Formats: sequence, structure tokens, C-alpha cells
Amino acid sequence: MWTIHSKGTSLKISPETIQVMTTLVKSIESRDPYTAGHTWRVSRYVMGIAKHLGWHGHQLVEAELGGLLHDLGKVKVPDQILNKPGALTADEYTVIREHPLIGADILRQSPGLVSLMPYIEAHHERFDGHGYPHSLSGQLIPLPGRIVAVADAFDAMTSTRPYRRALLVENALSEIEKNQGTQFDPDIVQVFLKAWARGDFQGVVRFSGINRPLLECEQCGPVIEITDPMMETLSGTVQCPVCRGLYTVAFDNGSWTIRAPNTSGQGQDFSMR
Ligand SMILES: [Fe+2]
Repeated sequence: MWTIHSKGTSLKISPETIQVMTTLVKSIESRDPYTAGHTWRVSRYVMGIAKHLGWHGHQLVEAELGGLLHDLGKVKVPDQILNKPGALTADEYTVIREHPLIGADILRQSPGLVSLMPYIEAHHERFDGHGYPHSLSGQLIPLPGRIVAVADAFDAMTSTRPYRRALLVENALSEIEKNQGTQFDPDIVQVFLKAWARGDFQGVVRFSGINRPLLECEQCGPVIEITDPMMETLSGTVQCPVCRGLYTVAFDNGSWTIRAPNTSGQGQDFSMR
């Protein structure tokens, strides 16, 4: 049983509730083949920032769940908008900009999860007041929203998208730094940079879970997830979720290799040592 404290009361959340929510979020993630592991990574970044802020106990539980659930509202965004390869129309933007409020409404109906609402509702607010849904600025943005904003943007920058390859970590960090005070809370940016400098996020960027580096499709980039059965057997065949290309994978001598069948290539080394 997870315990979350809210407004002087503590609420118990059953593992089943967490499981339902996590499954729901995973199902949203699976609709966009490029976002493998996004919610897990955001959750790790949010927890890392929270630890540096001195949070502990139930606050860290909230940080973990809030990071996982931040895009819950996308459950109501149609596939053709969520996965549209080109630029969105003004109307499509209006629909996508509703997801923080939709997610917050879902949580409002679940008493045990109400305290997670700021992670969902405020994660697209900007420090300068030009974000959505409420155009809040500065300290008026709930702190969880300011934390997820940094984590979410960093993960977007370091992930390959249909229209661009992932940025190098150093370039993404300097983008985050450049946008402190406009898009991001400068205090949170500094905490995030310090956590990076300490190596807290090794094994998170371009991973989709603990010890699960994203594998690289020759055509589409690092978008292939290591599944539970592959973790058990340390091998398997897998299709790229984007181009449907077929690969074999194996874990040998401390690293994962991936290669297209019927080729004599050496495969790629994703060492976890
Ligand atoms: Fe979002």
C-alpha cells in the first residue's frame, strides 16, 4: 500500500490503483512509437530533482507517480493528432493543449490521487507566463509543475522524433540553461544541472527502464525497447515500432547487441558496464 499525505490527511493508494494508472499511461505511450520509456525517464528526472530539493518519504512517492502520470490527459487526444507527422493546425493545437486539464479531471475523481494534480495540470505552464492551461507565472506555478516542465523538455530534446534526431546531452543541457527564467524556473534548472554533474541520471537518458537501453533501428534511431521476455531470456526478436523492421537482440558479455537478420554486421554495442 502506498501512502500519500494531502492537506493534513494521509490517503492509502492500493498497488492495484497504481497498476491501473501505470497501464493506462503505458497504453498512451504505446500509441506514439517514438516515445518508448518517456514517462519512466520523466519520472526519474523528477525524482532526482526532488531528492536534491531535500524531499523524502511520501513526497518522493508523489514525485515518482506525478512524473509517470504527467501526460495522463493524452488518453483523450485522438491518434491522428497525437501522431501527426507534420505541423499541427490551430484547432489541433487547441485539442492537444487540453491534456493537462483532462488529466487533472481524471485524477479529481480518484480521492487517493488528488495530490498528484499539480504534476499533471501545471506541467505546460511557463515561468514567464506564456504557458498553458492557466498562463500562470513564476512562483504561482505549483512547484511540481515547474519540476516536470524541466524533466519533460529535457527528455523531449534527448529523444529522437520523426522530424529530428535526438540532441546530444550537452546541447540539451545548454538549451535548458538558456531557457531558465523564460520557459523554466531558474532554481529548478540549477538543481537539474547539479544532479547531472553528479552523474545522478546515468542509465536514464536513452533508457526505457532500469538496465534497459533503447536499441537503435538502422532507419529510425534509438526507439526499440527491451521487453520483459527479452530481459528474462537475454535474447529475442523484435520489430521496430516505427518502420516495422525486424531485428534479433542478445545480451552477451555485459552488453546488448542488435542486428538485422541475414546480415553479417557486428551489431551495435550498448554496454551496460
Ligand atoms: Fe504534456
